[in-house]
Amino acid sequence: MDKHNKAIRRLGVFTSGGDAPGMNAAIRAVVRTAVYHGLEVFGIYRGYEGMIEGDIVPLDKRDVANIIHRGGTILKTARSKRFRTSEGRNEAYEALRAKEIDGLIVIGGDGSFTGGRIFHEEYGVPVMGVPGTIDNDLYGTDYTIGFDTAVNTAIEALDRIRDTASSHNRLFFVEVMGRDTGYIALNTGIGSGAGAILIPESSVDLDILMNHLEKTEKHKKLFSLIVVAEGNENGNAQQLADEIKVRFPHYDTKVTIIGHLQRGGAPSALDRLLASRMGYTAVESILQGHTNMMVGVQDNHMQLVTFEDAITKHKAIDADLMRMADILSQ
Ligand code: F6P
Repeated sequence: MDKHNKAIRRLGVFTSGGDAPGMNAAIRAVVRTAVYHGLEVFGIYRGYEGMIEGDIVPLDKRDVANIIHRGGTILKTARSKRFRTSEGRNEAYEALRAKEIDGLIVIGGDGSFTGGRIFHEEYGVPVMGVPGTIDNDLYGTDYTIGFDTAVNTAIEALDRIRDTASSHNRLFFVEVMGRDTGYIALNTGIGSGAGAILIPESSVDLDILMNHLEKTEKHKKLFSLIVVAEGNENGNAQQLADEIKVRFPHYDTKVTIIGHLQRGGAPSALDRLLASRMGYTAVESILQGHTNMMVGVQDNHMQLVTFEDAITKHKAIDADLMRMADILSQ
């Protein structure tokens, strides 16, 4: 706790890293809660890049009208290399000082929180984090903003692929996002009734996958959907499809990469609600004196977790969910 936070008069808000559906709903909640408390609010464009360049505008509660339902982020976003240098952070600090901004809300993922933590340590500016990333890979929160929408988008795509896969008895490898984590793949796979799910957290023995395919073939279930997280160790969807084709030449294999479709679109009801709760809680918390912390949701309750824990601790995939997915796919 930092007793000085109560003196915050001018609050900066920005989005950083990969965009996620629901970021606008979070911006709206931050602005309106801060205005309610009598603060002046500033929107910082393009994350830490815009902060360095002083690309900062005042935001009033009407400026965030009509955005709760929109994907992307009205404040734009970026991954800043310059902010990783002490010169860049110094320029950012000077730009904040010029506008007398004395508190920050960062909406983003672990890279954005790492930047926020260092910045607070160097310049003492209070910083609160709101987890906005479709990957759902942050420790200390059951869900991140954008994850639910991304999974819904992927499931909708899988439903369509299922129609054509079953009509042609084809085997589809569908690649979803998740460079380091398999949350999107696991949830999409379960929700779409996939035959197998490949995630970065656990490598799959391809021989076991082949046996599984052979078994389903015997049961005259000649089509299947295999969901592949982009970062899984067995290779990307195309590599896996090529490998299967070598071993099972009679299989009619196809590959679909859902890619950035998962990052766009209107946020789901769950993401709008989560983003509103998190943006509101972030402002209430920074005014209560908290800093260097991320807002999380656990068992449907808002909680705070230190940046340190959110960034460094690993949120493990639920092994029982993996087991269930396996059982339900038989
Ligand atoms: O938002 C997270 C994420 O979707 C990862 O799963 C993915 O690997 C990455 O972003 C790609 O982001 P970009 O195209 O912006 O580099």
